[in-house]
Amino acid sequence: MKNFTSFADSGDYKALLQQALEIKAKPYGYQHIGRNKTVGLIFFNPSLRTRLSSLKAAYNLGTQAWVLNAGADSWTLEMADGAVMNGGPQEHIKDAIAVMSQYCDVLGVRTFPTLKERDEDYGEVVFTKILQYATVPVISLESATLHPLQSFADLITVAETKPKARVKVVLTWAPHVRALPQCVPNSFCDWFSEIDWVDFVITHPEGYELDPKFTKGARIEYDQHKALLGADYVQAKNWSSYLNYGQVLQNDPAWMLTPEHMARTHNARFLHCLPVRRNVEVSDAVLDAPGSLIVQQAGNRVFAMQAVLHELLRGQ
Ligand code: CP
Repeated sequence: MKNFTSFADSGDYKALLQQALEIKAKPYGYQHIGRNKTVGLIFFNPSLRTRLSSLKAAYNLGTQAWVLNAGADSWTLEMADGAVMNGGPQEHIKDAIAVMSQYCDVLGVRTFPTLKERDEDYGEVVFTKILQYATVPVISLESATLHPLQSFADLITVAETKPKARVKVVLTWAPHVRALPQCVPNSFCDWFSEIDWVDFVITHPEGYELDPKFTKGARIEYDQHKALLGADYVQAKNWSSYLNYGQVLQNDPAWMLTPEHMARTHNARFLHCLPVRRNVEVSDAVLDAPGSLIVQQAGNRVFAMQAVLHELLRGQ
């Protein structure tokens, strides 16, 4: 593994998953890998889980870690190549990333989409620059289009709880009060469409189709109730339109996950990446039910990150 930005970077996902499960069973057992190493974490937008789970993963592995809130803790960064920097931004991303690479052995970076310029977002313009200017391995802590550590944690959660060899996993769109990126659902599709023991179904209202590059031919069922039939796992998430980029086309409250929705499943376990808008995306009754895995799923963010750090650092 050179960098970790998508499912493709996981290489042999079964080996990486096994590594994460072994690390979870013995979280402090690999500190020889991290000793005298430093993990740098750069955030261009807010985070609770990604920030704290990444720090915990680094500490479990015996590494030092620092966090920088770009723009707030540092100079404002200029992103444009060849810019005449006579405006607001004081430092070019080219210099900032090269310098920060001097201060760590692995760099984790969270960027964000504009939700206005689809070509710019789906071209991963900012993340591509970071990969170009970094001189150490880079981990995506969420980019404009993907959130691979979240999806890896989702996979760990399903793998360690699955009641049978083959399971049906449903990704369902849910209502929200704001226009949200497609990163989490794109990434969930990027991972779960590749898992050979998963029957994967995506359900959303018409107009919320995701980029086929990530859905990879997975079954799309526009009737949410039909999609949920017999599901073993349900992951709910809102996203704005990819086709009418960044727009909220409709926000039908009937898509909010309730116990009535879950009653159509095969006693499904419930997943959500968090943060969640309670009683907008999902009802309290689903989030607080015994079948809800949301806290375990967030906890597994530590072991997803730790397995990736282990993979990137063990060769150094
Ligand atoms: N799921 C997730 O990435 O949460 P944060 O935005 O709080 O990091």
